[in-house]
Amino acid sequence: MKYLKKIFYLINIFCLPFHLLFSFDILQVQFAQKRIAIIGTGYVGLISGAGFAQIGHKVICVDIDQEKIKNLKQGIMPIYEEGLKELVQKHSNNGNLSFTTDIQKALDQSDIIIIAVGTPVGNDGAASMSAFRAVVSSLAQYMSGHKIICIKSTVPVGTNKYTVSFLQKNIKKSVNKEATFDIISNPEFLREGCAVKDFFGRNPIVVGGESKKALYEVCQMYKPLIDDGQPLIVTNPVTAETIKYAWNTFLKVRISYVNDMARFCCAVGADINGIIKGIALSDFHLPTERISPGPGIGGSCFPKDALALINLSRKYGVPLPMVEATVIANKMHKNWIVDQVYELLDNNVTGKNIAILGVAFKANTDDVRYSPAIEALDRFLDDGAHVRVYDPRAMSNMAVLFPDAAYCDSLYDAICDADAILLLTEWNEFKQVNLEQIAKLVRQKNIVDGRNIWDPDELERNGFAFRNLARRSNI
Ligand code: UDX
Repeated sequence: MKYLKKIFYLINIFCLPFHLLFSFDILQVQFAQKRIAIIGTGYVGLISGAGFAQIGHKVICVDIDQEKIKNLKQGIMPIYEEGLKELVQKHSNNGNLSFTTDIQKALDQSDIIIIAVGTPVGNDGAASMSAFRAVVSSLAQYMSGHKIICIKSTVPVGTNKYTVSFLQKNIKKSVNKEATFDIISNPEFLREGCAVKDFFGRNPIVVGGESKKALYEVCQMYKPLIDDGQPLIVTNPVTAETIKYAWNTFLKVRISYVNDMARFCCAVGADINGIIKGIALSDFHLPTERISPGPGIGGSCFPKDALALINLSRKYGVPLPMVEATVIANKMHKNWIVDQVYELLDNNVTGKNIAILGVAFKANTDDVRYSPAIEALDRFLDDGAHVRVYDPRAMSNMAVLFPDAAYCDSLYDAICDADAILLLTEWNEFKQVNLEQIAKLVRQKNIVDGRNIWDPDELERNGFAFRNLARRSNI
């Protein structure tokens, strides 16, 4: 095992660009407890905060949202994420993790500052940087001594440069004129629904900076994770910034391609599972679960980062037709899934009862941002259908967007008297349903399985007319 680790480190070291290759050896980096301030307690900030506390650091999380901080102090989480609550409670109790709205206090008691505020899509598709800029202004105002600033928010390429020049100019105007800093680009790759596991598991660690000393200290901060075998990429800031966009859009290109194939297979009668196995073999490391067709890509990162990348590419005069195509493909695919319900109901949904199973953009999260369910609810309600929704976690978030749908206590409640069922999220609970019982409860036996979780043979045996993403009989 030790030997394997050594080889792994060597691989990691070869990820270093030439000018950094001999600057320090990751094998020699010693762990040191850091005092960390994390600004922004959204998905990324909160999970990172709990994660860094767990690997032995002192962490203080800051947010301007007083209600959120008040709740966090009482152990109430703003989001659902497996394992998060337990971790936050454990480290709040042992004093390694604390919460505040007072940014100055947080800065005073930290050496490393991690910016993890949101950068949502602005009107023109570019990432909106208002929260990020507000944080940087506060840093200029309140920082004292020397700080390492890690940028974890997904930011447009060039933000490191902007931050350096902004701080240099504005620190001079502040009370603490002598404050100094280093900036490190340190993007995150956490997947919602398994973000805590990802923090300690497969997540790559990317650190981009100009200062060797700061890079060394950030590697110290991640040392326990690096020792556990997480891949490390040490590089320059602009490369680190670009890796994040490249990573997300690469995954989006892949899934959009698979979704295209699923629709093609539906038309020609091929089995998507066979196709996926074939594609996976073309790349030794590609697990089939990461190239499964679905009802369309949702979530905060994929759609927003593709739009931000397209916006940047236009600014730089470098068209990215592959990336642009994923946006068009995804929009079309989300509508195609909904079209399947219309087709089963002879293109007339007015007055029909439609059950939507799953409104979260994927399983194990309560997040509904860019969820395919949005298209479905929008069209069905607009056309006068009665929509009954069930989702184990995400109903209250969707109810804010679509108060006119009925939100049900159970799957069986939602499908009762349904003329059609549309399944959009791959919750485990849905995989284990009793299709025989469902057949007895519905008014018309129509099903669209947007996640390929139900066995076509069983659907057929129970008399359903159904559509899926080209999943054929189990042969
Ligand atoms: C993604 C990236 O995976 C993560 O590394 C990044 O930093 C943030 O964005 P996340 O948005 O949480 O994470 O979800 P992910 O599991 O990657 O899925 C994104 C979308 O693609 C979901 O709508 C999901 O249902 C869909 N998907 C994913 C598929 O349709 N098929 C797949 O095989 C995988």
